[in-house]
Amino acid sequence: MDRIRVTGGRRLKGEIPISGAKNAALPLMAAALLSEGALTLSNVPNLADVVYMADVLRQLGVAVAWQMSGSDHVGGVLKLQSPRRSQSLATYDAVRKMRASFLVLGPLVARNREAMVSLPGGCAIGARPVDLHLKGLEAMGAEIELTGGYVFARAPNGLKGAAYEFPTVSVGATENLLMAASLAHGESVLKNAAREPEIGDLARCLVTMGAKISGIDSSTLVVEGVKELHGGQHAVLPDRIETGTYAIAAAISGGEIELTNTSLPLIGALVPLLRNAGAEIDSTAFGVTVVRNGHSMRATDATTEPFPGFPTDLQAQYMALMATADGESHIRETIFENRFMHVPELLRMGAEIRVEGDTAIVTGARKLKGAPVMATDLRASVSLVLAGLAAEGETVVNRVYHLDRGFERIEQKLKACGADIERLKE
Ligand code: UD1
Repeated sequence: MDRIRVTGGRRLKGEIPISGAKNAALPLMAAALLSEGALTLSNVPNLADVVYMADVLRQLGVAVAWQMSGSDHVGGVLKLQSPRRSQSLATYDAVRKMRASFLVLGPLVARNREAMVSLPGGCAIGARPVDLHLKGLEAMGAEIELTGGYVFARAPNGLKGAAYEFPTVSVGATENLLMAASLAHGESVLKNAAREPEIGDLARCLVTMGAKISGIDSSTLVVEGVKELHGGQHAVLPDRIETGTYAIAAAISGGEIELTNTSLPLIGALVPLLRNAGAEIDSTAFGVTVVRNGHSMRATDATTEPFPGFPTDLQAQYMALMATADGESHIRETIFENRFMHVPELLRMGAEIRVEGDTAIVTGARKLKGAPVMATDLRASVSLVLAGLAAEGETVVNRVYHLDRGFERIEQKLKACGADIERLKE
């Protein structure tokens, strides 16, 4: 298994091009199942999760053509063409590897009128149930049965538009229902819908495919179902988690980085936190600059919330930064119940953090020390790379396959800004 070695203490300076968003690309790919017309996606990041999703779609009968870009600045182009009638079975092997594969359920039941999709099961960051996806589809008239670890959903006469209010905000359930509602008979009103930018991106792509959706980017989505959708072309929006992660990299290393192909509003909730902590962060013609000149960072509290709040997917990275800031900060995780797996690893690097319920109390101003570390999820792994940038000596991050699921060419991007980092191949 590959590892990443980082030797800390280098001040980063340079430009990092931000890739297309993984969390937008995956639902957009599932949307290809809604139509026989070809869906062409551009700015697609070259990530393991995108490869998994392509495999799931191939299993369902979708023709996948992927042209990876040779350039650092433009993502790949993915052409997806669903057959007249796709397969309806997404196997355990396919879904177990990546929870987002469950996003094929809504499109399959909407277009094929039946689907059999494996339950994703638990995962390292908590139970992560799918009850809301299923309740929403039931509200649209699907009959749902759970057998042998699979969800069997049927709507013999097609799905019917429905009013559904999410009891808690869920990104995946909003996406599944939005896609399903696009082909349902009549109007659906999805209330308390997630407002993450990736959902707006999916909705805009569906509109180019002929869907009728209003309220895009708001918490109430109104969808007038259509009989069929056609193909389309869509560019995946920039990855706000990658943007935020490299913004934190600039702050933690005391550097100066321009993040291109992205924009400040995508990391809206991180901006006041970084400014308050002492970094300068501004819009440029091409994206965002983040500068921390000399002075130390100040501890600043943060609480994760659904968008537009501070994202859970930046919590681990922010904690690494706070471990090096002056003073005590409280970092509260309200989205996932078990998302502090990076804490014991940061402790091994000399951080001082204690967890009380849903809050991590970080006593900063510690000089981190390099160590061999490993993490069990994507965002936790990248927080260890960030900690390694600030640490004295060498950090080796094991299980790099987590990073490869969500961060495109991370070592090249950081190296181009002067980081002492390399991938150790095994
Ligand atoms: C998506 C993102 C993930 C991010 C998360 C929260 C993708 C591919 N993944 O995951 O990176 O961390 O949003 O921003 O976009 N819940 C239920 N029942 C359900 C569904 C969810 O109780 O049926 C709960 C979850 O356990 C969790 C909360 O709702 O506590 C939010 O989860 P959700 O927004 O659904 O996350 P994902 O879509 O899985």
